[in-house]
Amino acid sequence: MSAFHALEALPAPLRRLTERIGALAGRNRLRVALVGGAVRDLLFGTPLAPDAELDVLVEGDGPAFAGLLALDLHGTLRKHAAFLTARVDWISPDGTPQHMDVATARTERYLAAGALPLVSPALLEQDLARRDFTINAMAIRLDPPYAGQLLDPFGGQKDLADRRLRVLHDRSFEDDPTRMFRAARFAARYNLTLDAGTFAQLVRALPALRRVSGTRIRHELALVAEERDPAASLVRLGVWGVFAAIHPALTPDATCLRLAGRMLSSAPPAPWQTAADPCLLVAYALLYGCPPDALPEAARRLGLSAPELRGVRKTLTALAGCTAELAAQLASPAPRLSALYALIASLPPEGLCLLAATAGESARNLMACALERGRSMPLSGGDVLALGVPSGIACGQILRCLCTAWIDGLAGDREALVALARRHAAALAAPAGAAQLRGLHPGRLPCTKKDTV
Ligand code: CTP
Repeated sequence: MSAFHALEALPAPLRRLTERIGALAGRNRLRVALVGGAVRDLLFGTPLAPDAELDVLVEGDGPAFAGLLALDLHGTLRKHAAFLTARVDWISPDGTPQHMDVATARTERYLAAGALPLVSPALLEQDLARRDFTINAMAIRLDPPYAGQLLDPFGGQKDLADRRLRVLHDRSFEDDPTRMFRAARFAARYNLTLDAGTFAQLVRALPALRRVSGTRIRHELALVAEERDPAASLVRLGVWGVFAAIHPALTPDATCLRLAGRMLSSAPPAPWQTAADPCLLVAYALLYGCPPDALPEAARRLGLSAPELRGVRKTLTALAGCTAELAAQLASPAPRLSALYALIASLPPEGLCLLAATAGESARNLMACALERGRSMPLSGGDVLALGVPSGIACGQILRCLCTAWIDGLAGDREALVALARRHAAALAAPAGAAQLRGLHPGRLPCTKKDTV
């Protein structure tokens, strides 16, 4: 598709917006172009949403042009002077909040691999030359009379048509190793193959990943997790050796990555999925199988905090026991969901996802039942205290007993639980009650079929 037609393929609100930007550029005699993902998607033929975000490139003072645009659109302006960029926020005629990034065309110089670059103003074409892949180094002019003209100095349109992902120069990945994650995302999203030279450069630049902080790696994993098919990117990254280059203990198997990907993209989401942080879930899949002594450093390289590492440890330690319990309950004619609940309830949501991903469908259903039942327990610790039970171990034990009865269906409603709680409280108040409770192991609760009310 020619670029002119590509602009015509924009949804009406975006077409009007680009015409407005073009008119403003014309009045100010500036070369202004549409760049980035919108151009790539337009030329690939992917329909853009009417409120898709546009990236605008200005040959000249980008933030000053953004100021004019903000006035024109009755919006607000936020300048990032150090980066020669600005963001315009406005409300579209149909009431939708929208924003647009406006950048000054610039050249970049990297003083060290993996570091942030030094920038200085330049031509549109020079700006395209600093970009990651040919498919991202295209621009569509918006200023009249050139509106619709495609700037494609590196053959990005042909690469898109040939389904090829190609870097612009042989230091691209060394300059910015996070581009390896971008390569995986674009290859998976558009079904592209890395050209031989690009792949060789990626492999050569793998050691540069050691200089990328955990925070930046985590950010890239979050972007991967947002893709429509995260597993397709994750498997590529694994095969290319990206994870092992981040930390040698990160050698996830493809099945685990696929399962984690499925957890991220399956709809409707299971109860544990809604609460899970998608990026952390990817980290769990990567750390699954990591030797315990390597875990802290590998987790740090993925940008995990100390409490998050504790969650991973807890999950990995509990996983074998949970899997065995699931198998045992599935084989039992009368599954005790309370036993399962006791094992899985305190796992973080990402841990539950990992367990669910590695379990079969029946096991997942059992997990869902146990969690749903446990979380709908209608009596709280406060209710037990209100019955006159002193706070402390006794109260905790009675509460756990009630919870067991509830989850296993031995008490059908709140009233039944209150009656059961009263019986326990009365037993506690009797002379032998305290001794009886003292003798109890918290795991072995005084709650049997006889307690059914
Ligand atoms: N870019 C780059 N190197 C990076 C990040 C970005 O060269 N490490 C360039 C690319 O030309 C890209 C543009 O900056 O097209 C905008 O980047 P961004 O908004 O992050 O990504 P998109 O290409 O729009 O991709 P996505 O659809 O995933 O948002």
